[in-house]
Amino acid sequence: MKKIVNKQIVFFGGKGGVGKSTSASAFALTSARKGQKTLLVSTDPAHNVGDIFHKRLSGNPKRLTENLFAIEIDPNEETKRYLDGVKDNLKGLVKAKMVEEVHRQIDLAGSSPGADEAAMFDRLVSIILDEKGSFDTIVFDTAPTGHTIRLLTLPELMGAWIDGMLKRRENLNKNFSAWMGDGEPVEDPIYDILDKRKERFAEVRKILLDDELTEYVFVLNAERLPILETEKAVETLRKHDLLVNTLVVNKLLPDVEDSSFLRKRKEQEKEYIQMIDKKFNQQEKIFIPLLDGDVSTLEALDRISEAMQEELFQ
Ligand SMILES: Nc1ncnc2c1ncn2[C@@H]1O[C@H](COP(=O)(O)OP(=O)(O)OP(=O)(O)O)[C@@H](O)[C@H]1O
Ligand SMILES: [Mg+2]
Repeated sequence: MKKIVNKQIVFFGGKGGVGKSTSASAFALTSARKGQKTLLVSTDPAHNVGDIFHKRLSGNPKRLTENLFAIEIDPNEETKRYLDGVKDNLKGLVKAKMVEEVHRQIDLAGSSPGADEAAMFDRLVSIILDEKGSFDTIVFDTAPTGHTIRLLTLPELMGAWIDGMLKRRENLNKNFSAWMGDGEPVEDPIYDILDKRKERFAEVRKILLDDELTEYVFVLNAERLPILETEKAVETLRKHDLLVNTLVVNKLLPDVEDSSFLRKRKEQEKEYIQMIDKKFNQQEKIFIPLLDGDVSTLEALDRISEAMQEELFQ
């Protein structure tokens, strides 16, 4: 049995179009069928999990089949939710006549680069921490490689960033208490908010780094460019101590005798599979065949799920 089967959190990443959404959906379906209560989360701004199941999904878990639930994270909605949260946190901290100006500033910040990412990240953190108790398995379908790597390495970055902010506030506070005369420390609600966020990030980071709990799966095809991109991504994540232990090699051609065209492609594919075996000798591999049509119906997804089950439990 492959190790991935017993993980609580599973991320599916990879180059555009290789089959991340298909593999994540098939894995989630397989996990649900095994009796695990499973949550499938799409963090890709160009969602396709909903399309695969022919269901309209939203930011809250929706039941797809027995034991299987799904969420689609909408970056715009998350940015709004995030900014509303920031405004809420500041309630009572700024003087009434400043509120409008502060809100204007926050809204401006919301349209700046990076805001969507911060909001997505906040939601990722809340899903991991808050839904972990309600589900046996959480499966993340992510956007193409670069985006995912940034998302996964954010706990580290944000931790360092918040540390800097906390230091600055501590100094500010010290000066402030000194000015106030008696030198007694004053309460700083912003410090507390930052400190709480830091704690949550640290908690998520611990989960993301724990390979008993979390699995990173890269999906690729037996072709040159996806192999090279996967190699780079595996290396980048390793630098952040995130180990990719599983690969899904998707869209493998059938064995054919009667077509010289397909036979030639199959030969090339064999060479690439050897290359995958050599380059990724540390990773477990799951091989999925190419179907004769898109995976856009439940029946097709079932076929992928069956192929996956054979590979998972062999
Ligand atoms: N094993 C397969 N057999 C046949 N078609 C497949 C298979 N796997 C995926 N596909 C098809 O390939 C296309 C891309 O798959 P999918 O949407 O899962 O990729 P993705 O990596 O999530 O793409 P994106 O980067 O755009 O999110 C889809 O049309 C899907 O139906
Ligand atoms: Mg996708």
